[in-house]
Amino acid sequence: MTITANWSYPTAIKFGAGRIKELAEHCKAVGMTRPLLVTDRGLAPMAITQNALDILEAAGLGRAIFADVDPNPNDINLEAGVKAFHDGGHDGVVAFGGGSGLDLGKAVAFMAGQTRPVWDFEDVGDWWTRASVSGIAPIIAVPTTAGTGSEVGRASVITDSKTHTKKVIFHPKFLPAVTICDPELTVGMPKVITVGTGMDAFAHCLEAYSSPFYHPMSQGIALEGMRLVKDYLPRAFADGQDIEARANMMSAAAMGAVAFQKGLGAIHALSHPVGALYNTHHGMTNAVVMPAVLRFNRPVIEEKIARAAAYLGMSGGFDGFADYVLELRASLGVPDALSGLGVGTDQIDRMAAMAIVDPTAGGNPVELTLDAARALFIETI
Ligand SMILES: [Fe+2]
Repeated sequence: MTITANWSYPTAIKFGAGRIKELAEHCKAVGMTRPLLVTDRGLAPMAITQNALDILEAAGLGRAIFADVDPNPNDINLEAGVKAFHDGGHDGVVAFGGGSGLDLGKAVAFMAGQTRPVWDFEDVGDWWTRASVSGIAPIIAVPTTAGTGSEVGRASVITDSKTHTKKVIFHPKFLPAVTICDPELTVGMPKVITVGTGMDAFAHCLEAYSSPFYHPMSQGIALEGMRLVKDYLPRAFADGQDIEARANMMSAAAMGAVAFQKGLGAIHALSHPVGALYNTHHGMTNAVVMPAVLRFNRPVIEEKIARAAAYLGMSGGFDGFADYVLELRASLGVPDALSGLGVGTDQIDRMAAMAIVDPTAGGNPVELTLDAARALFIETI
């Protein structure tokens, strides 16, 4: 069976191998005449990026690119991107890449129409209503990894370069008008990125599934997302050219981001300060802390996880699920401690203080207190 489809939930998704060739027609359909492709420095020279630019150029849309984007994109990258957007007279953004290219591209399109500083649009209460809607440029998202799910999300994570904290910037118009999910773009991903992004998708599904909030639709999506990761991440890891595995991981990533409207939790709350202070890979960091957070949450989610284990074909209920996570992690070469990612014990107090105020902490099924966060860091470093 060829995996090709057009979906309109949560946005228009053009799913299937080779569908990047439709990029120019979708740009034109949403009104772009001079799109700016935003991606990260590493991706800029690669063949998949140059091919996307070729497609735009052949259709008379130019081949403008902004790639001054750090792995954890910050306000300095954003300001430079908005300047490039205005200087080039652009009228839309092709957000292209993994989490950093997608998040920054979306933020550039949004901030191109704003006069207030980006931090005024942090995901707090109704702050998003402060935005001037008319100036927001249309966005087409093209993921080149399978993890972040930013291609179907209404927010971007931007790091404050002064405080080194990650802020979630939210507006409904961050949701791309069209997303092209072409699994062929992911076949060249190095194994370590396949693992990190894939485990991020799993963390999104697991945390959304575990969060206490009422959102049965997300609950179901999270469960099937976990199944896809279980069945296909080992295959994508073993053979990066396995297009069926790559396609299903791309679906799992998008599903994780749809599911986490229900909430995330302590995996992300611990991971964000680690990434902000040590520049570790987000998904890999999640994978390292996942088993400890699962144990921490056990008193509240044991029964729920047992149901997931049954669906996923694991015996042993909660213990079976926890053992599976450990085995998956080991089989993919994920370190079993944060020290394996270069994290030291020198900033535990600072990271714990950051973790408990992280916007994701509130979705954890067990309250993440300062003492608990500190203990989890001590356990995982
Ligand atoms: Fe994540």
